Amino acid sequence: MPLFVFLGMMLKGKKILVGITGSIAAYKAATLVRFLIKEGAEVKVIMTPAAKDFITPLTLSTLSKYPVLTDIFKEDEWANHVMLGRWADVLVVAPLSCNTLAKMASGLCDNLLLSVYLSATCPVILAPAMDEDMWKHPATQHNIKQVQQFGNRVIPVESGELASGLIGEGRMAEPEHIGNYIIDFFSKQPGPLAGKKALVTAGPTYEHIDPVRFIGNHSSGKMGIAIANALYKQGAEVTLVLGPVPDNSLLKGIEVVHVQSAREMYEACQKVFPQTNITIMAAAVADYTPATFVNEKIKKSEGNWLLELTKTQDILKDLGGKKRDEQLLIGFALETNNEKANALTKLKSKNADMIVLNSLNDKEAGFGKDTNKVTIFDKRGGVAAFEAKPKDAVANDIVNYLIEYANA
Ligand code: CTP
Repeated sequence: MPLFVFLGMMLKGKKILVGITGSIAAYKAATLVRFLIKEGAEVKVIMTPAAKDFITPLTLSTLSKYPVLTDIFKEDEWANHVMLGRWADVLVVAPLSCNTLAKMASGLCDNLLLSVYLSATCPVILAPAMDEDMWKHPATQHNIKQVQQFGNRVIPVESGELASGLIGEGRMAEPEHIGNYIIDFFSKQPGPLAGKKALVTAGPTYEHIDPVRFIGNHSSGKMGIAIANALYKQGAEVTLVLGPVPDNSLLKGIEVVHVQSAREMYEACQKVFPQTNITIMAAAVADYTPATFVNEKIKKSEGNWLLELTKTQDILKDLGGKKRDEQLLIGFALETNNEKANALTKLKSKNADMIVLNSLNDKEAGFGKDTNKVTIFDKRGGVAAFEAKPKDAVANDIVNYLIEYANA
């Protein structure tokens, strides 16, 4: 049995301050930091002076890849405790000793961890650890209630063998339990898109000629799937209309409508669009489809085959025509030349709020790649050019841009 089951980047993009105090359970903080890093979090560690008697800062700086912070003043340097508390999405104190708990309950501030705690604007999670008699002492119980009343979250202590050799209550929760508590905590936070409905299109379309042949393209759907995930992580309720590609990297909780052709994609979007607040069209929709579908396999004959194609509906343009003022509509433009001019033309002609341009001239962009390089043009004249990045990071950039645009 593995000690940990890593859930896979559940804390990606999260900034976590881990505070360690003087308790025998401090050695477990190393495992906690490793867990948080494996789940994708950025972690900085603060230790109280007493914590250093139980675990070395070197272990924790190696695991967290940041210098461990212990002193408010170090020679001529001042640790900016206010900015540390603002940097973090959450402060987790594990283990929390009886002594630090008492100081937190009364507002004492004689080390860096306590100054960060008192000035922190982020939520605080505490994982106490002490011997059973200390844990049960009325003063400790009073302090626990006090820090909870201040709005801090307390992870219950566990029962088992204690440092004294006695068996009882007071053990710090196992690092894996603390890690899962933190994942759960973030998953319940209402994101900036909570209550918003989003529609995303992704992947290619297949235009069938007969039962065995179709016209398609090389789109992998990765960009659109990453966008659906990014919207979902920010709290939106997401429907993904997906062409014929696998959806295995899609987060649970996102509704998927599988389609094959441009016609089916058009119809699926028509149903969902009126209720959506945000629509992002990342699909590579076929612009032409066979004029007729033949039910049986077409046999080859002498000479050339001229296949008649008719135009498909431009879904983005159609939705742009129906869009209400409060709805945000975002399209993509995949270009090979005159990129900026073509993107700006699409912004206008399709009545979109933003166009995300990717150019096939950039080697990091294009079908099937794991990276993309985009420039966003918005209707108010805003332009943002981003570096080449993995598609997940590009998706975050696009979603963050639209959140800022909506709030401006
Ligand atoms: N799009 C669409 N329906 C179509 C074609 C395109 O919704 N039938 C959307 C795409 O999802 C994308 C945007 O329109 O968001 C631009 O797609 P793109 O292929 O770059 O441009 P086209 O409009 O097809 O124009 P052209 O092929 O001339 O560049």
